[in-house]
Amino acid sequence: MSQIQIEVPAEVQQLWAALPGPIVHYPLEVLRRTASPVGRPDSATRTLVDQMKEAMTAAYGLGLAAPQVAESQRIIIYRLPEERAPMQVIVNPRIISAKGEQTGPEGCLSLPYLHGDVTRAREIIVKGLDMLGRPLKRRASDLEARVIQHEIDHLDGILFIDRADLSTLEWHLPIAGDGVDPDGPVE
Ligand code: NI
Repeated sequence: MSQIQIEVPAEVQQLWAALPGPIVHYPLEVLRRTASPVGRPDSATRTLVDQMKEAMTAAYGLGLAAPQVAESQRIIIYRLPEERAPMQVIVNPRIISAKGEQTGPEGCLSLPYLHGDVTRAREIIVKGLDMLGRPLKRRASDLEARVIQHEIDHLDGILFIDRADLSTLEWHLPIAGDGVDPDGPVE
Protein backbone atom coordinates (compact mmCIF):
# COMPACT_ATOMS: atom_id res chain seq x y z
CA MET A 1 0.00 0.00 0.00
CA SER A 2 1.69 3.19 -1.12
CA GLN A 3 1.36 6.23 1.09
CA ILE A 4 -0.36 9.00 -0.82
CA GLN A 5 0.70 12.54 -0.05
CA ILE A 6 -1.77 15.35 -0.33
CA GLU A 7 -1.50 19.09 -0.03
CA VAL A 8 -3.47 20.57 2.85
CA PRO A 9 -4.62 24.08 1.89
CA ALA A 10 -3.53 26.87 4.27
CA GLU A 11 -7.17 27.63 5.01
CA VAL A 12 -7.70 24.05 6.16
CA GLN A 13 -4.49 24.03 8.21
CA GLN A 14 -5.78 27.07 10.08
CA LEU A 15 -9.05 25.29 10.85
CA TRP A 16 -7.17 22.21 12.05
CA ALA A 17 -4.94 24.31 14.30
CA ALA A 18 -8.05 25.65 16.03
CA LEU A 19 -9.39 22.16 16.88
CA PRO A 20 -8.92 20.97 20.46
CA GLY A 21 -6.52 18.07 21.20
CA PRO A 22 -5.55 15.34 21.70
CA ILE A 23 -6.26 14.03 18.17
CA VAL A 24 -3.25 14.57 15.89
CA HIS A 25 -3.46 15.51 12.24
CA TYR A 26 -1.85 14.54 8.95
CA PRO A 27 1.04 14.52 8.12
CA LEU A 28 2.38 13.74 11.61
CA GLU A 29 4.84 10.85 11.43
CA VAL A 30 3.08 8.74 14.11
CA LEU A 31 0.16 8.35 11.69
CA ARG A 32 2.48 6.71 9.14
CA ARG A 33 4.20 4.28 11.51
CA THR A 34 3.37 0.62 12.15
CA ALA A 35 2.00 0.48 15.70
CA SER A 36 3.27 -2.02 18.29
CA PRO A 37 1.17 -4.88 19.69
CA VAL A 38 -0.09 -4.52 23.25
CA GLY A 39 1.31 -7.20 25.60
CA ARG A 40 -1.44 -7.40 28.16
CA PRO A 41 -3.93 -4.57 28.66
CA ASP A 42 -3.13 -2.87 32.00
CA SER A 43 -4.09 0.30 33.83
CA ALA A 44 -2.07 2.42 31.37
CA THR A 45 -4.07 0.81 28.53
CA ARG A 46 -7.33 1.68 30.31
CA THR A 47 -6.21 5.28 30.77
CA LEU A 48 -5.32 5.49 27.07
CA VAL A 49 -8.63 3.95 25.98
CA ASP A 50 -10.57 6.36 28.23
CA GLN A 51 -8.71 9.26 26.60
CA MET A 52 -9.51 7.84 23.15
CA LYS A 53 -13.22 7.46 23.99
CA GLU A 54 -13.40 11.02 25.23
CA ALA A 55 -11.58 12.40 22.17
CA MET A 56 -13.71 10.43 19.72
CA THR A 57 -16.96 11.44 21.39
CA ALA A 58 -15.95 15.12 21.54
CA ALA A 59 -15.10 15.04 17.83
CA TYR A 60 -18.35 13.22 16.87
CA GLY A 61 -16.28 10.39 15.45
CA LEU A 62 -17.34 6.84 14.64
CA GLY A 63 -13.99 5.28 15.32
CA LEU A 64 -10.48 6.06 16.52
CA ALA A 65 -7.12 4.28 16.57
CA ALA A 66 -4.44 4.87 19.23
CA PRO A 67 -1.91 6.42 16.77
CA GLN A 68 -4.47 9.22 16.29
CA VAL A 69 -3.75 10.32 19.85
CA ALA A 70 -0.02 9.90 19.17
CA GLU A 71 0.23 6.47 20.88
CA SER A 72 1.76 3.92 18.52
CA GLN A 73 -0.10 0.93 19.98
CA ARG A 74 -2.47 -1.55 18.33
CA ILE A 75 -5.77 -0.44 19.86
CA ILE A 76 -8.96 0.64 18.09
CA ILE A 77 -12.31 1.84 19.35
CA TYR A 78 -15.57 2.52 17.54
CA ARG A 79 -19.24 3.18 18.13
CA LEU A 80 -21.85 2.83 15.40
CA PRO A 81 -24.24 5.76 14.92
CA GLU A 82 -27.22 3.89 16.30
CA GLU A 83 -29.12 4.64 19.45
CA ARG A 84 -27.55 2.87 22.43
CA ALA A 85 -24.80 1.35 20.28
CA PRO A 86 -22.05 0.22 22.68
CA MET A 87 -18.51 1.58 22.57
CA GLN A 88 -16.33 -1.22 21.20
CA VAL A 89 -12.66 -1.69 22.01
CA ILE A 90 -10.38 -4.15 20.22
CA VAL A 91 -6.76 -4.65 21.26
CA ASN A 92 -4.35 -6.14 18.68
CA PRO A 93 -7.14 -6.49 16.08
CA ARG A 94 -6.51 -8.57 12.98
CA ILE A 95 -8.80 -9.50 10.13
CA ILE A 96 -8.85 -13.24 9.61
CA SER A 97 -11.43 -13.31 6.82
CA ALA A 98 -12.81 -10.75 4.35
CA LYS A 99 -15.56 -11.15 1.78
CA GLY A 100 -17.39 -9.05 -0.80
CA GLU A 101 -16.97 -5.41 -1.60
CA GLN A 102 -18.52 -2.07 -0.68
CA THR A 103 -17.71 1.44 -1.87
CA GLY A 104 -18.69 4.47 0.16
CA PRO A 105 -17.60 7.84 1.52
CA GLU A 106 -15.08 8.06 4.36
CA GLY A 107 -13.53 10.77 6.44
CA CYS A 108 -10.93 10.72 9.19
CA LEU A 109 -10.47 12.65 12.43
CA SER A 110 -6.79 13.02 11.50
CA LEU A 111 -7.74 14.61 8.15
CA PRO A 112 -10.72 16.72 9.19
CA TYR A 113 -13.04 18.00 6.45
CA LEU A 114 -11.61 15.71 3.75
CA HIS A 115 -13.92 13.09 2.25
CA GLY A 116 -13.57 10.49 -0.45
CA ASP A 117 -14.91 7.16 -1.65
CA VAL A 118 -13.13 4.03 -0.50
CA THR A 119 -13.73 0.44 -1.59
CA ARG A 120 -13.43 -2.14 1.18
CA ALA A 121 -14.56 -5.67 2.04
CA ARG A 122 -18.25 -5.89 2.90
CA GLU A 123 -17.95 -8.64 5.53
CA ILE A 124 -15.06 -9.40 7.83
CA ILE A 125 -14.18 -11.53 10.79
CA VAL A 126 -11.84 -9.81 13.22
CA LYS A 127 -9.93 -11.33 16.11
CA GLY A 128 -8.18 -9.57 18.95
CA LEU A 129 -8.32 -9.07 22.70
CA ASP A 130 -10.76 -7.27 24.94
CA MET A 131 -9.68 -4.89 27.70
CA LEU A 132 -9.21 -7.80 30.10
CA GLY A 133 -6.87 -9.54 27.69
CA ARG A 134 -9.43 -12.20 26.74
CA PRO A 135 -9.57 -13.39 23.11
CA LEU A 136 -12.36 -11.78 21.13
CA LYS A 137 -13.80 -12.67 17.73
CA ARG A 138 -16.34 -10.56 15.91
CA ARG A 139 -18.17 -10.86 12.60
CA ALA A 140 -18.98 -7.46 11.07
CA SER A 141 -20.56 -6.23 7.86
CA ASP A 142 -21.36 -2.99 6.04
CA LEU A 143 -20.59 0.16 8.08
CA GLU A 144 -19.15 -1.77 11.03
CA ALA A 145 -16.83 -3.70 8.71
CA ARG A 146 -15.81 -0.43 7.02
CA VAL A 147 -14.98 1.29 10.31
CA ILE A 148 -12.95 -1.66 11.60
CA GLN A 149 -10.95 -1.85 8.36
CA HIS A 150 -10.34 1.94 8.44
CA GLU A 151 -9.12 1.78 12.07
CA ILE A 152 -6.90 -1.28 11.56
CA ASP A 153 -5.33 0.54 8.60
CA HIS A 154 -4.31 3.30 11.04
CA LEU A 155 -2.31 0.69 12.98
CA ASP A 156 -0.32 -0.01 9.83
CA GLY A 157 0.28 3.63 8.94
CA ILE A 158 -2.35 3.54 6.20
CA LEU A 159 -4.80 6.43 5.81
CA PHE A 160 -8.04 6.42 3.84
CA ILE A 161 -6.45 8.71 1.24
CA ASP A 162 -4.13 5.80 0.31
CA ARG A 163 -7.15 3.68 -0.66
CA ALA A 164 -9.54 6.39 -1.85
CA ASP A 165 -10.65 6.98 -5.40
CA LEU A 166 -8.55 10.14 -5.77
CA SER A 167 -11.06 11.74 -8.14
CA THR A 168 -13.59 11.78 -5.28
CA LEU A 169 -11.34 13.42 -2.64
CA GLU A 170 -12.89 16.72 -1.66
CA TRP A 171 -12.62 19.26 1.17
CA HIS A 172 -15.96 20.05 2.82
CA LEU A 173 -15.21 22.99 5.03
CA PRO A 174 -17.53 23.96 7.88
CA ILE A 175 -19.67 27.04 7.48
CA ALA A 176 -18.21 30.03 9.38
CA GLY A 177 -19.24 30.03 13.02
CA ASP A 178 -20.15 26.35 12.99
CA GLY A 179 -17.33 24.12 14.14
CA VAL A 180 -19.16 20.93 13.22
CA ASP A 181 -18.23 18.94 10.14
CA PRO A 182 -21.29 19.14 7.88
CA ASP A 183 -20.84 15.57 6.70
CA GLY A 184 -21.07 13.76 9.97
CA PRO A 185 -19.43 10.44 10.68
CA VAL A 186 -15.68 10.35 10.46
CA GLU A 187 -13.13 7.83 11.53
NI1 NI B 1 -9.18 7.70 10.49
